[in-house]
Amino acid sequence: MGVWNDRVFVPVMDRVLRTPDVNARRAKLCQGLYGRVLEIGFGTGLNLRHYPAGVTEIMVVEPSAKAMRVAEPRKAVISIPVKQVGLDGAELDLPDDSVDCVLSSYTLCTIPDVESALLEVRRVLKPEGALHFLEHGRAPTESVRRWQRRLHPVHSRIAAGCHLDRPIDDLISNAGLIIRELETGYGQGPRPFSYLYRGRAQPQSAS
Ligand SMILES: C[S@@+](CC[C@H](N)C(=O)[O-])C[C@H]1O[C@@H](n2cnc3c(N)ncnc32)[C@H](O)[C@@H]1O
Repeated sequence: MGVWNDRVFVPVMDRVLRTPDVNARRAKLCQGLYGRVLEIGFGTGLNLRHYPAGVTEIMVVEPSAKAMRVAEPRKAVISIPVKQVGLDGAELDLPDDSVDCVLSSYTLCTIPDVESALLEVRRVLKPEGALHFLEHGRAPTESVRRWQRRLHPVHSRIAAGCHLDRPIDDLISNAGLIIRELETGYGQGPRPFSYLYRGRAQPQSAS
């Protein structure tokens, strides 16, 4: 990761993504997590304080060493062990059917090969497991989508490759995961950046 990411992007991301509104969404996102959890795009550890008691182990995938350093004090105050298990959500060094839950927040916008990452999520999830997601993405309104497309070239350069208009629900379904719960709508902030998808999805084999 470059100087821009370390000195500017990571501190800004850490500030913007811990407003009271976002924290309330994180609390809801983490409800029902249990057992061995894999968090992809761990960032600065802003979900850690929302993990419920039933979680026994947190495995994280995060390419930014700077973000991992910022997360250290947050790791230190929770009692669940946190271990970094990789750098790229698209290549997980974990066995098939080995994880109870996967957590992803504001990350599917940024992983370059998001399709492969979601196939990996499906592969490592146990059949009865669940992906908990909270993501921003493609807006339903054409006028907002036009702005998402216009802003993309500049936004992706300053925001570490973030895409504004990924169709989060379609991407999840196309990876063979069934969306069991989905809430969508605009959050706080300018509309091109704030159309949110929060929900849970399970491998197709689960009933
Ligand atoms: C906008 S931040 C969100 C961080 C965190 N999930 C949160 O909710 O605060 C996106 C994160 O995805 C990470 N990321 C980028 N490429 C990735 C990849 N290939 N695999 C996993 N994470 C990645 C970035 O380093 C960054 O920490």
